Amino acid sequence: IRSALADGPLDGRHVLVTSGPTHEPIDPVRYIANQSSGAQGTAIAAALRDLGARVTFVTGPAQVPPPQGVTVVRVETAREMLLAVEAALPAEAAVFAAAVADWRVANAAGQKMKKDGSGRPPALEFTENPDILATVSRMGAGRPRLVVGFAAETHDVERHATEKRIRKGCDWIVANDVSPETGIMGGSENAVTIIDADGAEHWVRMSKTDVARRLAARIADRLKRE
Ligand code: CTP
Ligand code: CA
Repeated sequence: IRSALADGPLDGRHVLVTSGPTHEPIDPVRYIANQSSGAQGTAIAAALRDLGARVTFVTGPAQVPPPQGVTVVRVETAREMLLAVEAALPAEAAVFAAAVADWRVANAAGQKMKKDGSGRPPALEFTENPDILATVSRMGAGRPRLVVGFAAETHDVERHATEKRIRKGCDWIVANDVSPETGIMGGSENAVTIIDADGAEHWVRMSKTDVARRLAARIADRLKRE
């Protein structure tokens, strides 16, 4: 942990980071979730902290522990994550690294669902979760100056991520190829493409820690301007 006296390029700036999966209940003992260790989001929060930022880290139930020296807000569901994000604003930059479940179970049961002996599984109904990144990107007053989204894609990464940036209204998309043959999912390395209004910047494959450091430096550089 850096000294409070040293100066970093993000000294005193408030940055928000979301990380981890969300869990959406089916009943009190079951849930649906996305695959996400939380490793990349955790590394980004640590790297921003190391540049002097005051970091609010909104995390779903991740496998890796949250970094030291940041404000940790633990949530379970996408809706809780949205509320926590809104409560944490304003921030100068926001990085949405969480793997938010796109849908939640509309007919979640208040009690544990039991087999009824018929052999027929229960019919789950789904409803779409709020899009946290799009909500924040489209805020008028109070929008962070820099909004960074992620895109996990299995094919046509650059095209899908470029479309996603426009659709969500964020400034940058950090895109990665999570097709099984890359071995990236659940691993310690990442190969990302940064999409911004000027185009695509391909980064060589490196550790998630190095991706985080480079991204934090790029964020600091961006906030320094204007
Ligand atoms: N995201 C979010 N809220 C959601 C869904 C996604 O904030 N309900 C954010 C993620 O944290 C990520 C970005 O949006 O920063 C893109 O997530 P992704 O799942 O790749 O995009 P989707 O719009 O959900 O599209 P897809 O159909 O490809 O899943
Ligand atoms: Ca999604």
